[in-house]
Amino acid sequence: MDLQLPRGTRDILPEEVSKWHFLENEFKKVCENYQYEEIRTPIFEHTELFERGVGDSTDIVSKEMYTFQDKGGRSLTLRPEGTASVVRAFVEHKLYGEVSQPIKMYYNEPMFRYERPQGGRQRQFTQMGIEALGSDDPSIDVEVISLAMAFFRKIGLTNIKLVINSLGDKESRLKHREALVAHFEPHIDEFCAECQVRLHKNPLRILDCKKDHENPLIKSAPSILDFLNEESIAYFENVKNYLTALEIPFEIDPTMVRGLDYYNHTTFEIMSVEEGFGAKTTLCGGGRYHGLVREFGGPDTPGIGFGIGVERILLALEKADIKIPAKKPLEVYVIAAQPEAELKAVTLVNKLRQNGISAEKDYLKRKLKAQLKDANRKKANYTIILGEEELQTGNYQLKHMESGEQGAVSEQTIIEKLTIAKEEK
Ligand code: HAM
Repeated sequence: MDLQLPRGTRDILPEEVSKWHFLENEFKKVCENYQYEEIRTPIFEHTELFERGVGDSTDIVSKEMYTFQDKGGRSLTLRPEGTASVVRAFVEHKLYGEVSQPIKMYYNEPMFRYERPQGGRQRQFTQMGIEALGSDDPSIDVEVISLAMAFFRKIGLTNIKLVINSLGDKESRLKHREALVAHFEPHIDEFCAECQVRLHKNPLRILDCKKDHENPLIKSAPSILDFLNEESIAYFENVKNYLTALEIPFEIDPTMVRGLDYYNHTTFEIMSVEEGFGAKTTLCGGGRYHGLVREFGGPDTPGIGFGIGVERILLALEKADIKIPAKKPLEVYVIAAQPEAELKAVTLVNKLRQNGISAEKDYLKRKLKAQLKDANRKKANYTIILGEEELQTGNYQLKHMESGEQGAVSEQTIIEKLTIAKEEK
């Protein structure tokens, strides 16, 4: 029997969870600033959603999905990414019919891919993402990119670079596809069996084949940017101009294909350029997808979004030696100096907590000295010591731990004082 963590998963222990809270809060704040609202979708969906949405010739769908049959014989899949689910919800709840468009949503949820685990690559990982549906204005492409950049800035990650590309519209992509087939076909025997199937099914996928990536024909393959029609060029130019206007530096990489089939026009990735970060440097990936809403039975609706890998952000913060603010400190530690004071300690801690003041006590019947030590370890701002005299008078010694200042005050005064202190913070 194997009782250990499944490969590629992680526990997030209490000491680490404050980092997650910090990232979640900062992401939420940035999203709300940009007027995105949270959406939550189920962890599993019908398998067909990803086959049709992400594309059955992608590695994600063909090799990496956690697919199972439920007791009713349905094929279900733990979601490998967030976009397909959000678009499904958009169609299912007819959000395209809402007056206020575009619909802008964000999410922060676990995703599942059966990949070979390594640093920054897990089988269960978390994505913070956004999707904006209902606008094909290039200014929203730049809004989406600038939101990601604003988030990175807020959490202090500055050693990053933005890489963009355009996959163009349908017409441009068809022309590029023909050129790719013509380029690879005469030499396809040199490629792996999977690429031989990809040649006619989806030749773009040859460009990100993990086995053949060293083949020089991949480097010399025709570039999508040479096949963009006028409209696609104009769109891409607009995106670049807006990025420049917002002073967001970027590089163009015409070989960036992304691992999902739904993209067209703008695609982008944000990577860490921190030294020694390791192989998995892409922190954020995203782009436009104009066919997905229609594919799922809705009206023609353009969309754009991104996904950020939270575990990778944590690695990047660690590599950059950026310290994340520690958890909320403890306000008061109530010490029962003798067993008779225990009941009072229980009720006082309860009363403080009910007044919104964080309070703690001992639960191991420790002696006075050991309780003081525990209060120090927990970094309590104040301690209250309950001894015989305090029980009789109803006035308690409130001690500020840092300054050592101490005085006898009533229960009511303690609550008032600590409430004011909390509001001032
Ligand atoms: P993706 O590029 O497959 O795009 O994933 C986005 C990010 O998720 C990656 O850049 C990476 O940080 C993180 N990630 C992916 N796989 C793993 C893994 N196995 N372990 C840890 N982190 C991982 C998407 O998923 C698209 N849905 C993004 C998007 C949204 N495009 C448009 N809207």
